Amino acid sequence: MPHEKFHYKTWAEVQATASALGCALPVAEDTSILGQPLDAGNVHFANRLGIAPMEGADSTPDGRPSEYTVRRYVREAEGGSAMIWFEAISIVEEGRSSATQLFLNRENLDSYKQLVAQVKEAGLKANGYAPYLVMQANHSGRYSNPGNKPAPMIAYRHPELEQYRAADDSCIVSDDYLLSLEEKFGEAASLAKEAGFDAVDIKSCHGYLLAELTSAYNRPGLYGGRYENRTRLLRNGILAAKVYEDASFAVTSRLGIYDGYAWPYGFGVSEGSGLEPDLTEPIRLVREMYEDLGLRFVDLTMGNPYATTHVTRPYDMGKYVPDEHPLLGIHRMIRGIGAVKQAVPEMVIWASAPTYLRQFADLYTAGAVESGLCDGMLFGRMAFADPTFANEILHDGRIDPRHVCLTCGKCGDLIRAHKPTGCVVRDPQTFIPFYREFLEEKKNQPANFRG
Ligand SMILES: Cc1cc2nc3c(=O)[nH]c(=O)nc-3n(C[C@H](O)[C@H](O)[C@H](O)COP(=O)(O)O)c2cc1C
Repeated sequence: MPHEKFHYKTWAEVQATASALGCALPVAEDTSILGQPLDAGNVHFANRLGIAPMEGADSTPDGRPSEYTVRRYVREAEGGSAMIWFEAISIVEEGRSSATQLFLNRENLDSYKQLVAQVKEAGLKANGYAPYLVMQANHSGRYSNPGNKPAPMIAYRHPELEQYRAADDSCIVSDDYLLSLEEKFGEAASLAKEAGFDAVDIKSCHGYLLAELTSAYNRPGLYGGRYENRTRLLRNGILAAKVYEDASFAVTSRLGIYDGYAWPYGFGVSEGSGLEPDLTEPIRLVREMYEDLGLRFVDLTMGNPYATTHVTRPYDMGKYVPDEHPLLGIHRMIRGIGAVKQAVPEMVIWASAPTYLRQFADLYTAGAVESGLCDGMLFGRMAFADPTFANEILHDGRIDPRHVCLTCGKCGDLIRAHKPTGCVVRDPQTFIPFYREFLEEKKNQPANFRG
């Protein structure tokens, strides 16, 4: 069955299509399990609902949060989620994804202290608990775009990805440069802690630098080739961050367990497995994160949003029409995450990407938790459309169908255009003006512009 837009009125209809596709999805009778608290080591989450990191491209030029950033996170905190996993925040200027990507450094630390305090207070006031706040520390690698000018910093040459964004041998980063980043992740952790975040995420997903290294099978030197080398920067970045860990500050990771490319161009596949995930290495990595590196919770995700977008976030409308039914994407994601959870049950695992399922995302999430495929769920686009989705589930038992994300892809258009990003459909007063600007600029782009 090819790609198809969401048209289901009942879960029975979703299930009928899923069965026809041969991909049973988890579902629960009700959502009560999502109100249960969750402990991960000494970390306490008030419930099983979290907000996924969503870049807003709305920083000031020097990387401080703007009024749009504050608005976004305050609304999300009021919405009742136990955790807000903040968007990708750059650890170095040259690794920024745009001139408006957040960039935390010593000079602008005070503005982050204010943001974190405001967000915590908003949650506390609205719900009686402050959300757990994770800072996502990132280097954009291949997608570095400081000053809104592409300046890719790549782990290795990747012919398929280079169809979307040009790169050449001069873009390959040296081992010395990678070594220098280890302490940058340590610095990022120290700054995150001073800013008041509860945790720092050493991000390794979605094709950014650390994630790309995990599939650098043919890169020579210290950071390529065998598994230990490909995961070296991630593991050493975590160790550098762990220096700052204490009872009130944790280290975690958002890990991509499958990229959507066959070996040797993706993680979570093996020679000869084609596009079929082989999770041997991701499982090994998550086990090492628990046993050797002492992480107590992680978030798992898949895909490369620039190229295999349908793997990261199944959708109705996007840059391309995939050759796959979106329910297969949902199934791949939860089946893969569930396989890791079942192999490393001690690790608290947050899953990703429920939004395509709209008003059924809640019963699906509850089903995934009930059947032991994950411990909680991070909602991405849903949180842009309806930042109070968690309180709807926790208080009314279900998400309000009138508020759900329609996976129309407009937030993706805004982020690619480096404009303040949010839901054009559900939050039109704020985001339609930026969307109009985007449409105007698009008219003036050459026809083959991919963004
Ligand atoms: C506009 C936009 C910005 C995003 N920014 C980030 C980010 O900063 N860091 C990250 O790890 N993922 C990012 N993502 C991916 C989401 O966190 C999430 O994994 C994805 O949207 C799938 O979840 P969903 O189906 O609930 O939307 C972004 C996605 C979108 C649409």
